Amino acid sequence: MEPFQYHVFVCRQEKPEGVNSCSAACSWDVLAALNRELDIEGAAGEVQVTTCGCLGLCDEGPVVIIYPDGVWYRGVKAADVPEIVASHLRSGKPVSRLVWNDAPAMKALITEHGNQYRAMLKARDQAGALPDDINELIRGFMFSRTVLTALELDVFTALAGGASADAVAERIQSSRRGTEMLLHALAALKLLRKENGIFRNTPLSARFFAEASPDSARKALLHTANLWHRWSNLTASVRAGTPAPKTGDGEWVNTFIAAMDRNARERSQAVVNAAGTEGIRRILDLGGGSAAYSIAFARANSGVTAEVLDLADVLPLTQEYIRRAGLVGRIHARVGDMLRDPLGHGFDLVLLSAICHMFSPKENRALYQRVHAALAPGGRVLVQDFILEPEKTAPRFAALFSLNMLVGTRAGSSYSEPEYAAWLAEAGFRDIRRVPLPGPAGVLIATRD
Ligand SMILES: C[S@@+](CC[C@H](N)C(=O)[O-])C[C@H]1O[C@@H](n2cnc3c(N)ncnc32)[C@H](O)[C@@H]1O
Ligand code: FES
Repeated sequence: MEPFQYHVFVCRQEKPEGVNSCSAACSWDVLAALNRELDIEGAAGEVQVTTCGCLGLCDEGPVVIIYPDGVWYRGVKAADVPEIVASHLRSGKPVSRLVWNDAPAMKALITEHGNQYRAMLKARDQAGALPDDINELIRGFMFSRTVLTALELDVFTALAGGASADAVAERIQSSRRGTEMLLHALAALKLLRKENGIFRNTPLSARFFAEASPDSARKALLHTANLWHRWSNLTASVRAGTPAPKTGDGEWVNTFIAAMDRNARERSQAVVNAAGTEGIRRILDLGGGSAAYSIAFARANSGVTAEVLDLADVLPLTQEYIRRAGLVGRIHARVGDMLRDPLGHGFDLVLLSAICHMFSPKENRALYQRVHAALAPGGRVLVQDFILEPEKTAPRFAALFSLNMLVGTRAGSSYSEPEYAAWLAEAGFRDIRRVPLPGPAGVLIATRD
């Protein structure tokens, strides 16, 4: 017995530019149309849709296969999808004009394709060519830089409703030549569409990149654009073991806290669930930034109050986030340096979210002693960070984030779970446990004796 009535495979294989493939023939459009149509029809629960790699019939793409019937479709367009759903998936009648059932011819093509592919790989290997995925890795900065420039110039906002390259250039006060090249590159990255000389946002770019959208991440993503400048100095930072001198940027703090806030909002409910709110009345949120975690705890339990400690240039932003959350009476923000200034006493929970990676091992050990002293007996500390495996070669994001600390902080780094556990134990914490949460950051919770 199958868990679904139908299983649909859509080939989404990408191939080098100029080589026919399902992806080049817009199979991602077919996939989007399929998911949309199944949703509309209320059939998503009966049909499993899976993308797949090359099936060896690339000149005839996009190729779609439907099991258990074993029906192969070729040359499918997004416009064909409603008919496939209504006729095949709803009524069991394949759409004959798209079906390819000449099995011997298909098999011959697949075999020929496989032989050609293996011969091509061998020839490239013999010629000493770099593998494609390594080339992609090395050129990854081009994709990233294109999107970051579009965000900096606020292209996606300028495109609202669709606009020509001339109109966009005027709105973003940039050269026509450069703007047109940028718009074409964004269309190639499938972040825009171009029809009859008019560029338009895709649903994804309209939702996440245009300023007017309620889900806009532009401001938070500008923090990544700022990081770009630091990462440009990575070679010098690796040589020196320290960040390059800062180029004072007034917008840095704003975009940094906006980026932290966006991440935190996505995770705060999971973090509240991980810690629970039972027995918690007073929280100390060290380096609380936008206070997103204090806000989430306060909303989850009306008996909770929180104190957020942060640096002087961040505090006005912290206060504004608290005001907007309507929690001014229950969350208090104060200026302080968590490594030096008094932390207070008798807290039930201390939050250290995205904090420890900024500091050296020595500073973290001292910080955990201070946190221990600030907690009431039986109180807990919650550490959220990018936690490395003992070998420090994984997870990938945590390992790369260490470099982010190299180019941006005096002594910060990603640390491993055994390092965190040793520091916590040394400070007098017990019941140190890792709480599995989805996403790149991990959570450790420990209890004061
Ligand atoms: C990476 S952010 C994390 C913000 C927040 N905890 C979160 O998870 O969204 C680090 C925060 O720590 C603050 N910070 C850095 N050094 C600090 C220090 N010595 N004392 C107090 N706050 C500090 C920064 O201003 C920033 O708001
Ligand atoms: S790319 Fe789809 S069949 Fe080859």
